[in-house]
Amino acid sequence: MTDRYAVLGNPIGHSKSPLIHGLFAQATGQDIAYTAIEVPLDGFSETVLAFRAGGGRGLNVTLPFKLQAFEIATDPSERARLAGAANCLKFDGERILADNFDGVGLVNDLQRNLGCPLAGKRVLLLGAGGATRGALLPIAAEGPALIAVANRTASKAHALQRDFAAHAQLQSGGYDDLGGQRFDVVINATSAGLTQETLPLEASVFAPGAVAYDMVYGKGLTPFLQQARAAGVSRVADGVGMLIEQAAEAFAWWRGVRPETRAVIQQLTVPLA
Ligand code: ATR
Repeated sequence: MTDRYAVLGNPIGHSKSPLIHGLFAQATGQDIAYTAIEVPLDGFSETVLAFRAGGGRGLNVTLPFKLQAFEIATDPSERARLAGAANCLKFDGERILADNFDGVGLVNDLQRNLGCPLAGKRVLLLGAGGATRGALLPIAAEGPALIAVANRTASKAHALQRDFAAHAQLQSGGYDDLGGQRFDVVINATSAGLTQETLPLEASVFAPGAVAYDMVYGKGLTPFLQQARAAGVSRVADGVGMLIEQAAEAFAWWRGVRPETRAVIQQLTVPLA
């Protein structure tokens, strides 16, 4: 029997998840159907429960429902708990298991696909919202020399440092507090690029040979990646690999089979410029 999965979001029309999971299913011989469902802003829990009642096995969850996905879970993972957000649900009888694969997807993309090991590196995360929260634990687990979080609203970065104190040593502040520091990996986890806004970053923030990574995908060279290029950074990447790697984690969690990501990344990658 075909097992049913879906991605929930609003809007959802742009989602590449059905294509990605369809390719994974084909490659691994798994019999699944995966659709995209646009959920009314006030209808998240009803949609989840109706999908489960109809025999659905699991869900991906994207904006703006990742916090509600965490809240509806009966069994959230440690990293979902720390992020306060989930992007993946699995149904097991009455239990709703939740996890957050965004951070591990990012780390796998950086390390495996882009050849950028994080151990011993100086890592800068821009933004202090859900995207940064989801990324912190998996990054810390790789043993970087430093993780700094810079945010437009410095108090939010400080709050995040406090929340993660038991799990990761962070430096936190506003963009001005970065001073003359240089970083080997600079990750844009803000939503600024979606509105074509530029971040107040000094060119000196990029160490020689740095990698600049924008979690956004499918937007070409975002203002952040343009800033990095203008600062002389040659290794720039958008978040398409992160999207596909988090999908692979979800697929493995649901199906017990780990799909290969390389061919899917090749198929979905659009040259940045
Ligand atoms: P997400 O879940 O995608 O992380 P979020 O929790 O709303 O979304 O967080 C958005 C992040 O982008 C925040 O860090 C926000 O900064 P503030 O905390 O100061 O609001 C950041 N952000 C959004 N627009 C920005 C802009 N134009 N310049 C700088 N930072 C911006």
